Amino acid sequence: MKIKIMSVFGTRPEAIKMAPLVKELAARENFESLCCLTGQHREMLDSVMEIFRLKAHFDLNIMQKQQTLSSITTRTILGMEEVFKEAKPDLILVHGDTSTTFAGALAAFYHKIPIGHVEAGLRTYDKYSPFPEEMNRTLVGDLATLHFSPTMANAENLRKEAVQGEIFITGNTVIDAMKTTVRADYPLELMDRLTSQGRRVIVLTCHRRENYGEPMENIFRAVRQIVKTHEDVEVIYPVHLSPTVRECAAKFLGEEQRIHLIDPVDVEQMHNLMARCFFVMTDSGGLQEEAPALGKPVLVLRKETERPEAVHAGTVKLAGVAYDEIVRLGNALLDDQSVYEAMAKAVNPYGDGNACRRIADAIEWHFGLRKDRPENFLP
Ligand code: UD1
Ligand code: UDP
Repeated sequence: MKIKIMSVFGTRPEAIKMAPLVKELAARENFESLCCLTGQHREMLDSVMEIFRLKAHFDLNIMQKQQTLSSITTRTILGMEEVFKEAKPDLILVHGDTSTTFAGALAAFYHKIPIGHVEAGLRTYDKYSPFPEEMNRTLVGDLATLHFSPTMANAENLRKEAVQGEIFITGNTVIDAMKTTVRADYPLELMDRLTSQGRRVIVLTCHRRENYGEPMENIFRAVRQIVKTHEDVEVIYPVHLSPTVRECAAKFLGEEQRIHLIDPVDVEQMHNLMARCFFVMTDSGGLQEEAPALGKPVLVLRKETERPEAVHAGTVKLAGVAYDEIVRLGNALLDDQSVYEAMAKAVNPYGDGNACRRIADAIEWHFGLRKDRPENFLP
C-alpha cells in the first residue's frame, strides 16, 4: 500500500517551493502524491503550475478580489472538509506561513490527519510583523507532527518552543527549484536591452500587508529618489496583482520613465531577472533566499526579517521602511564600489539543492519505510 500524501498550497511562493517536492514524492514508489490547491492566488498560482507542469487533483478556487483573512481561512477550512472525505490522505503537507498554510493545517487537524510543515521554524517573535504570517507559522508549529526546517537556527526556534513531533533540518526547497529555472541563455527582452545600453537595473518587489499605507509610500518615494539621482539606473518592478499594491505603485512610481512597472512574471523569468540585475530591493521572503544564491545584494524593505542567515553572511541588509535609510543604503550600493563588492557574493545559507530528497527520506523514515533518519543540511 502506498502512503497517500496530499500537498496543500494556494499562493505563488508556496507553489514554487512545493513544486520540486511534489515531483520528488511522485517519483517514489512508496508514495501516492496528490495536490490540493486552495486557489488563494489564481493567476499567479496557475503560472507556477504551468511552468513546473504540476497537476491539481483538487482545487478549492477560493480567491476573491481584495479578499480578507477571514474569507481565505473560512473558505479553505470548509472546502477541505469535502476533499479529506473523498481523498483520505495519510499525511498532508503545508508550506510556510500563508493563510492557506494555517487553514489547511487546521482543517487537517480537525480530521486527525497528521501534518508535515515545510519551511518550519522561521520566526521574528513579533506577532504583528510579518502579519499575519508570524502567527500562521507559529500555530502550524503546534499542529504539525513533522517539521522540515530549512536551517539550523529555524530548528533551534522550534526546539525552544518545545513543539511536539520530529524536527528535520533540510535546507529550503526553493534552492532545489532554482536548479531548473536559472539559465544563462534565458531570453529577457527588457532586462537585456537595458543592460546592453549600460544601465544598472534594480529589481524591486513589494507586497506585504504590514507595509500597506505609509511604509509602502515611503519605500516607493525612496526608490523614486534613488532613480532620479542616478541617470544610469533603471528599476524593473513586477507588481503583485493585489489591488492595494497596484494602486500605490501606480500613484508613486507610475510617472517615472526609468521605473518599469510590469505585470507579475513567471518564476523562470523572475529568477533570471534576478540573476542579471545589479541588486534587489524587496519585502518578499522568497527573494531574500534566492538573490543571495545568485550573488546579488539585497535591501530588505521591512523592519525585521525571519531570515537572518544571509544578513550574517553580508549579502542582505535590513533597510527598514523609512525613506532616509532606504535612500542612504541604495545610494551606497550605487556609489561606493567597496560597499557593493562586500555584498555581491554568492552565499547559500538556505540550502544545497537537496531539501526535497531529505524531506521525502524523512517521511519514509517516519512511516518505517527507511532505516536511517536523513542527514541534516549543514551550510
Ligand atoms: C499572500 C500571503 C503572503 C504571501 C503572499 C505571496 C496571506 C495572508 N498572505 O499575500 O504571506 O507573502 O501571498 O505573494 O496568506 N490577486 C489576484 N490574482 C492572483 C493573486 C492575488 O488578483 O493571482 C489579488 C486578489 O485581489 C487578492 C489580492 O491579490 O484578493 C491579495 O491576495 P492575498 O492572497 O489575500 O494576499 P497577498 O498579499 O497576495
Ligand atoms: N516571483 C515570481 N514572479 C514575480 C515576483 C516574484 O515568480 O513577478 C517569485 C519569486 O522569485 C519568489 C516568489 O515568487 O520565488 C516570492 O513570492 P512573493 O514575493 O509573492 O511572496 P513571499 O516570498 O514574500 O511570501
